[in-house]
Amino acid sequence: MRGLDLIDAAKSAVEAICPGVVSCADILAFAARDAFNLLVPGGCLYDVPAGRRDGNVSSFQEALDNLPAPTNTLSQLETTFAAKGFSLKELITLSGAHSIGQAHCFSFQSRLYPYDSTQIDPSFAQMLQGKCPQNATVNGVVTQDFVTPDSLDVQYYTNVLNNKVLLFSDWALRTDPIALTTIVSYSTDNLLNLLWRPDFIKAMQKLGQLDVLTGTQGQIRATCGAVNP
Ligand code: HEM
Repeated sequence: MRGLDLIDAAKSAVEAICPGVVSCADILAFAARDAFNLLVPGGCLYDVPAGRRDGNVSSFQEALDNLPAPTNTLSQLETTFAAKGFSLKELITLSGAHSIGQAHCFSFQSRLYPYDSTQIDPSFAQMLQGKCPQNATVNGVVTQDFVTPDSLDVQYYTNVLNNKVLLFSDWALRTDPIALTTIVSYSTDNLLNLLWRPDFIKAMQKLGQLDVLTGTQGQIRATCGAVNP
């Protein structure tokens, strides 16, 4: 996972001043809030309640069981999100995060050889083929949003409408008429930020309160990558 070193650095800085108090779960929620503030045009800091505690176990399998996959259809994505209390609208809203960052070739390579021109814009597919050659020995990384790569904006939704998104799961969002209506309305929200931004903030705050441990549950980890000995 790219960026985990930053979480470790934040954790070390906090531990040096105030050991055993601030959880990695809180640091992660604050880091997401701060990344949003840095990347969203004009900046915007939303409130993040604190007091989360860290888990007593760390399980690769548990993550796989709970996270959606880039090969998921819309109905699979809906099921995964619904299992955590998130609606189709919130799925569309949160997916806007794919307006920044990168993806490894392995996350979408199966869409390229061969590509389906009804699902991926041919010139975009050919550009991606150049970045992710079929028999490459290195697993390359590719920018998710080629139009405004470092801006957390609604360009993602235009990219979805133009079939210029990396993941099958991104494209899949447009396969339902109700979802498509939301995508179209978000895509037109670029200057005013009245629609997507408040929805995204609300959904991020809800995500940050999902399955949290509080009080005496769990632990405050000393390092984020491992449970306490
Ligand atoms: C809808 C279901 C989702 C699926 C299937 C999905 C899948 C993925 C995949 C496969 C990658 C590329 C990983 C790699 O190859 O290194 C990725 C990247 C990313 N995703 Fe998602 N994601 C989903 C939802 C979300 C949500 C809800 C958020 C945040 C609110 C999010 C934020 C990101 C970010 C920021 C990146 C770029 C990471 C980087 O630059 O290293 N994604 N996602």
